[in-house]
Amino acid sequence: MSTQHNIRKVTTHVLAEMKLRGEKISMLTAYDYSMARILEQAGIDVILVGDSASNVMAGHETTLPITLNEMIYHASAVVRGTKRALIVVDLPFGTYQGNSKEALASAIRIMKETAANAVKLEGGSEVKESVSRILSAGIPVMGHLGLTPQSIHKFGTYVVRAKENEEAKKLIEDAHILEDAGCFALVLEKIPATLAAKVATEIKIPVIGIGAGNKVDGQVLVLHDMLGITQEFSPRFLRRYHNLYQEIQGAVSNYINDVKSSDFPNEREQY
Ligand code: KIV
Repeated sequence: MSTQHNIRKVTTHVLAEMKLRGEKISMLTAYDYSMARILEQAGIDVILVGDSASNVMAGHETTLPITLNEMIYHASAVVRGTKRALIVVDLPFGTYQGNSKEALASAIRIMKETAANAVKLEGGSEVKESVSRILSAGIPVMGHLGLTPQSIHKFGTYVVRAKENEEAKKLIEDAHILEDAGCFALVLEKIPATLAAKVATEIKIPVIGIGAGNKVDGQVLVLHDMLGITQEFSPRFLRRYHNLYQEIQGAVSNYINDVKSSDFPNEREQY
């Protein structure tokens, strides 16, 4: 069993040590208190309050509409449900791009109002100034390269990124830029496994993959996808550990039948 379970709190330093030891980092998303508690009790290392909340919690088609206030609401609930896991919060679209002062102000709001441990933002050289300014306030930053859902309208599709040499070269350069800027970890989303492996070997900070093969330092999935609550989303990289959609639907159908047939509540379930 992992020695990490004995450590009181996972910090960015703990993640660096895990990479050095070759111990894989487990990361999942969560957006609310109850789920965060379950993940915490199971021993997850990192919880990402992802802007995927825009999709799975709010039903938007993209991650673009979610606001900073909404992210803060989700993140504070997650923090209340956890003690040991490192909590990382996505800076939502429009709160950091192109304006490093605004990026710092957004990151400060997240840290002050949620008590989370770090922020994550998408992009490479374009966000370098924002990363540096946020770090100058002592706020740890996680980078995110490859498929960056906040730029979906630039790319037009969610297909695998960096298959061509030029894009792969830029991704490697960006990974170095983020490491040099001081990011404590990097998410690589939906890129060829060989490229992800090369990045994980070249840079010293932990690389967490989603659809990036297993030669990286850890893995992240969206909780609702791996639990089978979302049904329509089935990329090759997604391993479903449950079919909660069906389970919940079955339980609710049984409840409806019991209410309609007056089977619920029975004598033991009343006062
Ligand atoms: O928002 C999110 O859930 C993410 C993960 C897919 C890494 O950024």
